[in-house]
Amino acid sequence: MKTCTACGQTNPEQARFCLSCGTPLASAAPRGEERKVITILFADLVGFTTKAEQLDPEAVRGMLDPYYAQLRGELERFGGTVEKFIGDAVMAIFGAPVAHEDDAERAVRAAFAIQAAVAAMNAADPDLGLRVRIGVNTGEALVVLEARPSEGEAMVAGDVINTAARLQTAAPPDGIVVGEATYRATAHAIDYEALDPQQVKGKALPVAAWKAVATRYVRSRRETSRAPLVGREPEMAVLRERWEKVRSSRRPALLTLLGPPGIGKSRLLREFTAELGATAVFWGRCLSYGDGITYWAVDEMLRDAAGVMHSDEDSTMSAKLSSLVESLGGSDAAEARTLTVALGTLIGSSTTGTGGDSRARISRTELHWAIRRVFELMARRGPIALVFEDLHWAEPTLLELIRYIADGADGSILVVGSSRPELVETRPEFVADSEGERRTLALSALTAAQSETLLSGLLGAPELPAGAVERLLRNAGGNPLFLEETVGMLAAAGISDVGGGKLLERVESLPVPSSLQSLIEARVDQLPPREKKAAQHAAVVGGVFWSGAVAHLNESRDGLDQDLETLERRDLIQAAATSSIESEDEYAFKHILIRDVAYGELPKARRAALHSRIAEWISALPGAEDQYVEIVAYHLEQACRLVREVGRTTVVAPVAAATQALARAGERAERLEGFREAARFYTRALDVLGATDNEQRLGLRLRRGLVLKALGELGQATTELVEIERRALVLERPDLRCEALIALANIDGKQGRPADARRRLEEAETIVRAIDAPRLLVQQVFEHSAFRAHFDSAADVAINDLRRVFPTVETLGDRSLLMEGHMRLGTLLFNVGRLAGAEWELTECSKLAAEAGSFRAKARADSLLGFVKYYRGEFGDIRDRSRRSSAR
Ligand SMILES: Nc1ncnc2c1ncn2[C@@H]1O[C@H](COP(=O)(O)OP(=O)(O)OP(=O)(O)O)[C@@H](O)[C@H]1O
Ligand SMILES: [Mg+2]
Repeated sequence: MKTCTACGQTNPEQARFCLSCGTPLASAAPRGEERKVITILFADLVGFTTKAEQLDPEAVRGMLDPYYAQLRGELERFGGTVEKFIGDAVMAIFGAPVAHEDDAERAVRAAFAIQAAVAAMNAADPDLGLRVRIGVNTGEALVVLEARPSEGEAMVAGDVINTAARLQTAAPPDGIVVGEATYRATAHAIDYEALDPQQVKGKALPVAAWKAVATRYVRSRRETSRAPLVGREPEMAVLRERWEKVRSSRRPALLTLLGPPGIGKSRLLREFTAELGATAVFWGRCLSYGDGITYWAVDEMLRDAAGVMHSDEDSTMSAKLSSLVESLGGSDAAEARTLTVALGTLIGSSTTGTGGDSRARISRTELHWAIRRVFELMARRGPIALVFEDLHWAEPTLLELIRYIADGADGSILVVGSSRPELVETRPEFVADSEGERRTLALSALTAAQSETLLSGLLGAPELPAGAVERLLRNAGGNPLFLEETVGMLAAAGISDVGGGKLLERVESLPVPSSLQSLIEARVDQLPPREKKAAQHAAVVGGVFWSGAVAHLNESRDGLDQDLETLERRDLIQAAATSSIESEDEYAFKHILIRDVAYGELPKARRAALHSRIAEWISALPGAEDQYVEIVAYHLEQACRLVREVGRTTVVAPVAAATQALARAGERAERLEGFREAARFYTRALDVLGATDNEQRLGLRLRRGLVLKALGELGQATTELVEIERRALVLERPDLRCEALIALANIDGKQGRPADARRRLEEAETIVRAIDAPRLLVQQVFEHSAFRAHFDSAADVAINDLRRVFPTVETLGDRSLLMEGHMRLGTLLFNVGRLAGAEWELTECSKLAAEAGSFRAKARADSLLGFVKYYRGEFGDIRDRSRRSSAR
């Protein structure tokens, strides 16, 4: 069996196109595992075991078979997959292998449908007396994509399943109980009663639970926010102009708004139709699930027109429909009769929910004609607008009907639709322009300024820290819904009790809001497997990625360009005009949330392996050693973190490589005098390395201690260095100990503890005499000479010591050390009045500093050179020099 990635339909192995929706089916290459948010439904018969004991096995079977068939039918109708039967219980999954944005709602609606079906069965056979308990729960699980539940293969694993089973046992007979995530995801569409938290087996804390009472009829999938409309003036103008044309020409027209979820299609349609007056507008939606809903949108429109309620009896409904047709004043009685029958079949069949039986009595052509005729008659009283929401879920038949109205109706009928971009791919003929008239209008993201306006509209209260605003705007990427949901999440967390800095942290660490997560997951799941894999691999590379990197993770470049094109067409990614890596095409995810969701779908162990591979690719780029070391370090670090999080996996954490890369990134930061950054890199390296008290750890701590000292955080540096010195003794690493001693002596000197400084310098001297470590020797001599000159007033000795060590400095070939040597010597010579020597040394230092781009060192050397000149009486030159050094 092959499962369609677009609609979830199972198809025979040899099928090349989906039997249900026509999407091309991928070959059945294994697709591995994914982490997904799924909803689990457990349904169990109450007290059936006792009953079964008293019956003949064949009678039991005779009772249960129809029940299971009904159950499966209802579950599948709402897009669920029956995973297994456990005794009398059934477990079904919504959201895997293919996610829908409303899986939780589908599951609860399916639960009600099961209840209704069981009630109908009991009514038909009073001996049956079946009673079911249902539990529904939503949460993250690991999903095996190619599992065949029909073969008894487990498809999902995770705590969400156990909890669903427990909630089911907590449900009363004929009751439906849901867990918290399900409740939150469906509260807008279902009426609930809160239950006491349930104490369940195997759970430390009680589990929050709600009893589902009734399904609600909802007009739209989403509440409109109260924030005022921002922008969209040009789009409003197009809509108004189209309306005007329809009105004056008495001809129909069709316009479909296109855009990704949340961009504001429905909002725009609501704003526009509000201008037209309630009687002119008919509104209908396409549903994402269930059978027999082809004409749902038209039903809604006609129901509204006739004032038919969902609760109306058949006779009431018929009466209302006839009076509608009458009021329209059709041409003759025969026509009026045909119209009433047609509308009756259309609406009646959806009211009773029995599908096509009665509909079969009239042909599709007749039905379409009747619908168009009714709208034409309505338009005689004044122009009308038919709004078809969510056309990406429309059945081909409905699209045909819409074209039939928009192409051939006689009268002022404006048909406006909303759809996500995939319609362009799946139904190109529907969106094609006609007679030179554009039939689509694409909605793009809000601009940064518009987003900011919307943000303040949403927050009501002003004054967020600039950093938090910027982060919020960046996360939303101009999508109003994303902005709204993120603000909603912040509000739930209590914006008022997070002070400025904390809020920023909060924004940084916000997870993807769960409503958006399922929305985006559904979009990603609609991708064919190859494109989906490309998206997931790209997500590992990051919010910004390069095609070569994805090819490296794919282990092939074949078809990648097309895959990326598809992702672009579906508005998930965007090509960048220029690339930060030469000879590589650069792309970015449309929103960082899309990246986060695609990334989150990969199992952690797999992510870890991919991070290691991407580090490999980046390391092989020209100039990677220096330029990209931070990026390499980041990926290796992620690999280590993920392996640690999973605990048990065969994937090996690249601890050594990660530590090394982070340390290199730290050194690079030090070279660029970014000491804070350097300290952070060393801390990250230490985190990756873990608690093992080895020499490498000590080395990193030493580097961090030295950086702290450079930052002037002397207290913290001292504590750390003292500890390092002690441990180095234990680990027998005299080199590390010596470096710590020298640094400590320097701090002692600065803080006026010459006795301590002297002791430490002498200890360091003993060490450098004993081991062969030229660099340490140099450092020791540098520090010691300064001490002698300052505390022992022995500048000449100090100068001699420095001169003696200079050849070693030169052989080491380290520019910063050489610079330091010249500076120290220059300063001492200046202090004892040897101006010529001082000038030479300082000039050397200044030259080296200029070459190295070290402004600080150059400024120091230059200002001292100014004094040298001053003492030699060369005033003219000083002004120049000091001006240059202070300009830095
Ligand atoms: N221009 C805008 N100004 C203010 N709020 C907006 C704007 N556009 C959209 N919104 C708000 O953003 C949210 C999402 O918009 P809407 O529901 O219209 O998206 P959509 O494009 O219809 O998405 P979907 O494809 O999921 O139906 C709504 O709450 C809406 O009020
Ligand atoms: Mg919408």
